[in-house]
Amino acid sequence: MKLHSSRGLQGEIQIPGDKSISHRAVMFGSVAEGKTVITNFLNGADCLSTISCFKKMGVDITVDGTNVEVIGKGLDGLQEPADILDAGNSGTTTRLILGLLAGTPFHSCLIGDESIAKRPMSRVTDPLKQMGASIDGRENGNFTPISIRGGSLSGISYESKVASAQVKSAILLAGLCTNGERTSITEPHKSRDHTERMLKSFGADVEEDGLTVSIKGGQKLKAAQIEVPGDISSAAFFLAAGAIVPNSKLVLKRVGINPTRSGILDVLEKMGADIKVTEVETASFEPLADLEIETSDLRGTTISGDLIPKLIDEIPIIALMATQAEGKTIIKDAEELKVKETNRIDTVVNELKKLGADIEATEDGMIIRGKTPLIGGAEVSSHGDHRIGMMLSIAACLTEKPVELAHADAINVSYPQFFNDLARVNQ
Ligand code: S3P
Repeated sequence: MKLHSSRGLQGEIQIPGDKSISHRAVMFGSVAEGKTVITNFLNGADCLSTISCFKKMGVDITVDGTNVEVIGKGLDGLQEPADILDAGNSGTTTRLILGLLAGTPFHSCLIGDESIAKRPMSRVTDPLKQMGASIDGRENGNFTPISIRGGSLSGISYESKVASAQVKSAILLAGLCTNGERTSITEPHKSRDHTERMLKSFGADVEEDGLTVSIKGGQKLKAAQIEVPGDISSAAFFLAAGAIVPNSKLVLKRVGINPTRSGILDVLEKMGADIKVTEVETASFEPLADLEIETSDLRGTTISGDLIPKLIDEIPIIALMATQAEGKTIIKDAEELKVKETNRIDTVVNELKKLGADIEATEDGMIIRGKTPLIGGAEVSSHGDHRIGMMLSIAACLTEKPVELAHADAINVSYPQFFNDLARVNQ
């Protein structure tokens, strides 16, 4: 796909539904009792993979645009799938489904695409085995294809080495399936808390104490009405674009600003961006707001520690912003980037270098020196990673010569209408 530079981005964008929350709404709705109604559902490939897996387990799910209805089967109502469950490109589908399958007394087999086959699953399968599930897969259950026979589980107190909402959620979902026992998980830093918030909306009692979250087994989930907020990880591409493309002013509508996810807003402020958070709504289970951004003079910053899980998916676009900021930006404590849809330390550094960025990889992140003009004329690739594809498309707004983006279709995973939205605000 050929991408051309921009003379400015102006207007309003309705940011599509949050990917993490859309997955959870379908999953929890499937094992709840009654009809769950989801609005502003993200119709991206990842969330459609989740729907397809639950349909194969006998759940009646109707999709009408961004409205979804799920007729819940209850926690013990899923049926043994006759076919392999295919998670496609989706780590959230793979890891969270494993948590639920651990507690269901049937056999299933889980696969995904080439990227999923490289992503570590023992962070989830090890604790689930400790709880009593029978799981096998390549390299002792670390890689797909994974087969699982669930059944009766015992509660555990688990200390996770990584701050991962996928690990936390899988353990909490398995914890729901124990016979009244308590399960707890402690993380090194707080990861996104969408599961905790949404389980409460489905009537479950979840306890949070610092970095530890606990749940008692045997609780039934009750169907809920879920309005999915706009995805801050998708909004991040337009926040960055608004800040770095000259002559820009964008308003992004109804974006989720959950504090465990909103690290990008902190970084924009630290970098000196002209950003405003307006129309804040806190009545729902997830807070949301409109975000306004204008072209800004940015400065480099350091991003590390507790902040990393709050913006882990935004690091590719932050790296691009840093190429347009004065001074040095250091991103560290982010080794998790290596096990995302691609090794995002490598893909970000290699692709941005092709456009002339001064960027180097480190063991646990990257260092970027700005401000550097980006040069076009090069061919870059998403490497099948949606967030790399969108980051490079925003980079192309700044280059004099066009940029050829290979594997642009990867963007459908989380933001199918991305290029339409970009074209609409492009001056
Ligand atoms: C997600 C959690 C994060 C994030 C991913 C979605 C979720 O992964 O990177 O895109 O929905 O729980 P980890 O839990 O592995 O950090």
